[in-house]
Amino acid sequence: FDRGLLTGKTVFITAGPTREPLDPVRYISNHSSGKMGYALAEAAQDAGATVKLISGPVNLPAPERIERVSVQSADDMLTASLSGLEQCDIFIAAAAVADYRPTAISEHKIKKGSEEIMELHLVKNPDIVATVATHDHKPYTVGFAAETQDVLSYARGKLERKHLDMIIANDVSRSDIGFNSDENAVTVVTSGSEQELPQASKRQLAGQLIEKIAQSYHLTR
Ligand code: C5P
Repeated sequence: FDRGLLTGKTVFITAGPTREPLDPVRYISNHSSGKMGYALAEAAQDAGATVKLISGPVNLPAPERIERVSVQSADDMLTASLSGLEQCDIFIAAAAVADYRPTAISEHKIKKGSEEIMELHLVKNPDIVATVATHDHKPYTVGFAAETQDVLSYARGKLERKHLDMIIANDVSRSDIGFNSDENAVTVVTSGSEQELPQASKRQLAGQLIEKIAQSYHLTR
């Protein structure tokens, strides 16, 4: 694509999982690899953007010349996302944020008891992308919808409910694409359009997605 597509623009991207601590040695998390978010960060930089990559714990090196802010929990990710948001033109939420976190973090390692059942109490995490999308300085806001059924209808619901400008839907029931895989296949949904991008490497797909996002961003500004 055109290498000047996002020149002078600032793009924030969240990527990877979050970790929600239970005690000093344990946490709740998920299998997100961060690959899609990192590929988007590189593609946005290739398009000329200044990129801030807000990343949960992943096994990926920081892309060259990209500012990476490493976070652990959803709360940390929210703080990093809101910091400097006034400068952000496009916000892409590719992170797999934990929906819930333990209500309290135990100061000491939780000891094994004699009971067979142990109950954990969880509280809902803040919705980062929805918070960004309702901010006074709302950037052009893009979310992901990883679904296992009724992919498009859930994606459209999220687009509206979270006040997003675009949502990228993918079917995570397939083991050959999506979570942890090097490939993905998605449908790009806006309020007035829907377009399928067939299976490709996350790197190739990231280039196509950045082009779509940039075009749509320029149309709405
Ligand atoms: O509602 P759901 O988690 O499926 O929505 C997915 C989209 O919302 C993704 O873009 C994800 O990064 C974002 N999200 C978020 N904060 C949350 C939960 C999801 O930014 N707490």
